[in-house]
Amino acid sequence: MQMEKLLLFLLLFFSSILLSPADYTRPDHFFINCGSKANSSRSDGRTFIGDLIYPGGSLSFTKQRSSVITNSQTSDVLYQTARIFKQQSSYKFDIDTAGIYLVRLHFFNSTDVSTAVFYVSTDRVSQLKNFTIPRSSTNDSNSPLIDEFLLNIPQGKFSIYFTPQGSSFAFINALEVFLAPENFIPDKAPTPTNKKYTGILSNALQTIYRINVGGETITPETDTLWRTWKPDDEFLYNPNTGKSASTSGLPKYNGEVTNYIAPAPVYQTARRMNTDGGSNFSNISNIMTWSFSVSKNSSHFVRVHFCDIVGTSVGSIIFILYLNGIDPQKVDSYEISGDLLTPFYLDFVVDSDESGVMNIYLVPSEDSPEVLMTYLNGVEIMEIIGELNVVIEPDKSKKTVFLVVGPVGGLLVCVLAVGLFIFLKKRKRRSVETSVWSPFNVHGGGSSNSKGTDRTINVFRFPNLNLGLRMPFTEIQSATNNFDEKLQIGKGGFGNVYIGKFKNGSKAAVKRGQPRSSQGLSEFHTEIMILSKIRHRHLVSLIGYCDERSEMILVYELMKNGTLRDHLYKTNLPCLPWKQRLQICIDAARGLHYLHKECAGGIIHRDIKSTNILLDENLIAKVADFGLSKSVPMDQTDVSTGIKGTFGYLDPEYFNTHQLTEKSDVYSFGVVLLEVLCARPAIISGDPQLPMEQVNLAEWGLLCHRKGLLETIVDPSIKGQINPNSLRIFAETVKKCLLEDGANRPSMDKVLWDLEYALHLQQTAVYREPHEDSTIDATFGLRLVNVQRLPSLSLQIEKDDMPILRDSTTDEAFPSASEFFHN
Ligand SMILES: *[C@@H]1O[C@H](CO)[C@@H](O)[C@H](O)[C@H]1NC(C)=O
Ligand SMILES: *[C@@H]1O[C@H](CO)[C@@H](O)[C@H](O)[C@H]1NC(C)=O
Ligand SMILES: *[C@@H]1O[C@H](CO)[C@@H](O)[C@H](O)[C@H]1NC(C)=O
Ligand SMILES: *[C@@H]1O[C@H](CO)[C@@H](O)[C@H](O)[C@H]1NC(C)=O
Ligand SMILES: *[C@@H]1O[C@H](CO)[C@@H](O)[C@H](O)[C@H]1NC(C)=O
Ligand SMILES: *[C@@H]1O[C@H](CO)[C@@H](O)[C@H](O)[C@H]1NC(C)=O
Ligand SMILES: *[C@@H]1O[C@H](CO)[C@@H](O)[C@H](O)[C@H]1NC(C)=O
Repeated sequence: MQMEKLLLFLLLFFSSILLSPADYTRPDHFFINCGSKANSSRSDGRTFIGDLIYPGGSLSFTKQRSSVITNSQTSDVLYQTARIFKQQSSYKFDIDTAGIYLVRLHFFNSTDVSTAVFYVSTDRVSQLKNFTIPRSSTNDSNSPLIDEFLLNIPQGKFSIYFTPQGSSFAFINALEVFLAPENFIPDKAPTPTNKKYTGILSNALQTIYRINVGGETITPETDTLWRTWKPDDEFLYNPNTGKSASTSGLPKYNGEVTNYIAPAPVYQTARRMNTDGGSNFSNISNIMTWSFSVSKNSSHFVRVHFCDIVGTSVGSIIFILYLNGIDPQKVDSYEISGDLLTPFYLDFVVDSDESGVMNIYLVPSEDSPEVLMTYLNGVEIMEIIGELNVVIEPDKSKKTVFLVVGPVGGLLVCVLAVGLFIFLKKRKRRSVETSVWSPFNVHGGGSSNSKGTDRTINVFRFPNLNLGLRMPFTEIQSATNNFDEKLQIGKGGFGNVYIGKFKNGSKAAVKRGQPRSSQGLSEFHTEIMILSKIRHRHLVSLIGYCDERSEMILVYELMKNGTLRDHLYKTNLPCLPWKQRLQICIDAARGLHYLHKECAGGIIHRDIKSTNILLDENLIAKVADFGLSKSVPMDQTDVSTGIKGTFGYLDPEYFNTHQLTEKSDVYSFGVVLLEVLCARPAIISGDPQLPMEQVNLAEWGLLCHRKGLLETIVDPSIKGQINPNSLRIFAETVKKCLLEDGANRPSMDKVLWDLEYALHLQQTAVYREPHEDSTIDATFGLRLVNVQRLPSLSLQIEKDDMPILRDSTTDEAFPSASEFFHN
């Protein structure tokens, strides 16, 4: 036994040694000086060996009918000779270690070769490159053209083929084929809409850009893999938005980021947001944008490098990275790297559209604890060539992903269908995005003079709006048959909700706001900003939006089973059993917990109620309607100006103090729990027979609980099925959620835990002594006597004080129920 453990330990120990990228040493082969008997020693320490004298037989090439030309226009031995092929020919290499290889082809222009037209291929990638001397590549006739590819090469023979086109010929001056460090390029990377692109390594990557942002050119002499990194100046859209930053401190490489990923100078320099005019996330001058021209309609592997050399304390800078259709990425160096001066990078697979432009832009985040600041250290863009064996699938590894594989088979199918729909929409929508971003098309079509048009400013007024989700009005119009009444499924103060049938057959809920009011507009934008930042299985996701003309339209995933309230009372729908109700509460609690804790620094929903909890076809619950949501204030004494929320669910503490915390949501959630238990509205109004203390469910519920009579108000149709222990835990949870003092209310994870426990007790129905599973602690229990009167109907009359209070008794619309466009 001990022996086995020791062996296992040794095995792990050695395999970790073997796999450690730090163990990588740069290979000394293959570096080839083509068409030559001479070695060329480089200043970067390598020797390019003449192909005619290559030792050891590990290299061969088609010598017959190839010829050699010499060029005296350069003093560089490496480029004084080229091998010329008049018909398809190849260089063959003996590969002893399978892995990712860097393959570089050097071409040097001269009178003799300037007319060559040919293509280069390998065994697995048939068209690596169609080669002609580019017309305007460089002024400097003394610099070679170097094309770099990354290829996954198996052990054995590896060939690079040169095939002349027509009566032309092919040529090559020098070749590099060498092994990259382990895990240099991943096989998978996130791609738009929380998907993962798998199969990067089955294809070839061609390096298009390698940029040392904010720094100087890095030459092969300095780089750890003989790469060249260029400065970013020509790509930075507006030079005034950024300043260079540098440090003499050495980057703290750790884990998977080694100096082979990028050398120290990349991380020691950065471009940081220019804050001379003050820093402000809504100021366009604070948004750095880089624009790269790339091949049209093709996939690119993009790696962005970061290293916080700008912040003065750990974790002080948080910002959002936008990159052609990728979901906005929160960049929080503390979360990712844990320290200042510690390099990290993010990989993506991004498609270019017909404009052939790739934009990267950085927006300071409102979540940033100290300073509004953004920075970037490096960018690499590689085109994916070949597109073999590519799988694009939901990204299961991501914490924030909403496409979690559920236990129900049918659910998975439905979820994938929704995912595919979103993905297709995204692809389609790109054309829209392009038109919005056209001012940034600095390299395409000579539009570089149109910098800073009104349109751009317009876009940036709400910089966090996800442009990738924008939909053309015409598309929505046709999906809803021009807002046909027959497709209407809901109506509310904000306008109407329709089922939209989109061209690909998918359905979604289309919520059309009434013509713009400034208040409605801000909530419209809040909803887009919040929903486009988050994806969670228990939060209703936004599929698109339209703000063309004066429209305010939101398109959501369709929740077939409507609101939770629809299933509780005033309904003909079948009664939900207790277990199912618990599960729904658990789902919603998960969504809310995510919102509070995991999501972009914390978001307070502010309008939790049974009509904002929606059910899909499998009765999976999701929280909806983020129009009133707010980021958690950093400063807890933040006094919000207007009280917002829905009457009957509104936290009395918040009402009295105007201090908003996530505990206000916990209170509202407590009211929802009572609603679920008792199947009655939060407020019953207009019934003169009803005793005053019964009007407000929260008050009534607490009163009954105190008197030990809670069972008497439980929904009669489920009374018989509730396990007493399950009920007890549930009731205690409700009581804690409704505590007068927000600080004493549990956080959502605690609520979630209690609800799961209540479900567990219901399922196992094991009898326990009452004290055993009490989740309430003594202090809580004793303080309960003092429950405060909640704002009841009589208070509502002071309309000036609470302009946005909603009356929970109005019948609200399916699917996203409440009106967030208040008029
Ligand atoms: C070229 O370099 C190789 C390896 O460094 C060496 O073995 C060989 O002798 C050199 N040949 C000449 C002609 O310098
Ligand atoms: C290539 O070299 C030829 C001859 O030196 C020259 O006429 C031509 O302009 C060069 N092409 C480029 C793109 O530099
Ligand atoms: C290269 O040219 C050939 C023939 O003109 C064409 O079939 C092929 O698609 C081209 N490959 C690339 C990568 O452009
Ligand atoms: C190319 O040459 C022109 C004219 O000599 C010069 O103005 C320009 O800066 C050069 N461009 C590069 C990239 O060297
Ligand atoms: C935005 O920033 C620029 C420069 O950074 C500054 O000149 C300008 O006054 C700022 N505008 C606003 C509205 O704050
Ligand atoms: C940011 O700018 C907006 C308008 O451009 C202004 O209303 C707001 O007060 C500014 N905020 C800060 C913190 O400067
Ligand atoms: C790119 O895709 C669009 C839409 O699919 C198509 O109309 C266009 O011709 C394509 N462009 C290129 C250069 O392939």
